Amino acid sequence: MLQIVVLGAGAGGGVPQWNCNCRVCAEARKGTGSVAPRTQSSIAVTADGSNWCVFNCSPDIRQQISDNPVLWPNSGAQRHSPIGSVVLTNADVDHIAGLLVLREKQAFDLFATKTVMDVLAENPIFNVLDSEFVKRRPINIGQECHVGNGVVIEPFLVPGKVALFNEARLLAEHDTLHIGDETEDTIGLKISSADGGEALFYIPGCAAMTDGLAERLKGASLVLFDGTVWRDNEMVSHGLGVKTGSRMGHMSMSGNDGSMAAFSSLDVARKVFVHINNSNHILIEGSPEREQANSAGWEIAYDGMEIEL
Ligand code: MLT
Ligand code: MN
Ligand code: ZN
Repeated sequence: MLQIVVLGAGAGGGVPQWNCNCRVCAEARKGTGSVAPRTQSSIAVTADGSNWCVFNCSPDIRQQISDNPVLWPNSGAQRHSPIGSVVLTNADVDHIAGLLVLREKQAFDLFATKTVMDVLAENPIFNVLDSEFVKRRPINIGQECHVGNGVVIEPFLVPGKVALFNEARLLAEHDTLHIGDETEDTIGLKISSADGGEALFYIPGCAAMTDGLAERLKGASLVLFDGTVWRDNEMVSHGLGVKTGSRMGHMSMSGNDGSMAAFSSLDVARKVFVHINNSNHILIEGSPEREQANSAGWEIAYDGMEIEL
């Protein structure tokens, strides 16, 4: 059996985002209940009920640990953590900056593709994770990998892009960013228990539904999927920025080529949107977007959401 806790259901910036006064962020700050605040993108999974694997390590990890007693030190030793491993799906700031919080000579295993490991390696600030305690373990696409205490992952490529902070350098080197290419910059994960049982798919960033991905997800018990934007140009139309969802490597929920349409024929038992941006009105309780997604069988993740498989 797997237990899953959504530590942070928001996308980069969280909800409310520090400098944003959009309708969603303003409602979240007011605390009226119309928009629940959400920290940044992360889930935790356990197969044995006591040792946890954290998937993506957001800048909010300190608060997320504080908010979830299962992640508190509990062995009686002076220093301890139930977090035995961390797995990264890309090198975006909202997925790696929390590693800086997990310093202080605490042992855990860190799993990511070689491409993402290279990003960490060339940023020496990550050396705050003492290599004597934190083992960096590259994962290979298509190869099952035991990440500790009975949790098994199988990484696969999904259409994505390089981390935002590496865009300028890539553009200078190659003249193009190849957004939507399937490279080791962005992966999805099949997560299962070594004891068998149902698996879940965790895909917090995905630029498009490919035939291969659709085939993989068909009939799945649970998929946690990229819920960044409702409409491709919502950041622009809400006056929040110049970028579209597709420019950021995220497919929209709505529309003919959106995720809701793409999943409609996949027969997935439980579909949950994660990595939800503050520009997305699906975050507003009772909004037309929320109702449409719910009627299409989607759940909207919130911080502290617990799922058993
Ligand atoms: C994304 O999901 O597109 C990134 O987190 C954006 C960012 O790094 O700000
Ligand atoms: Mn992100
Ligand atoms: Zn906002």
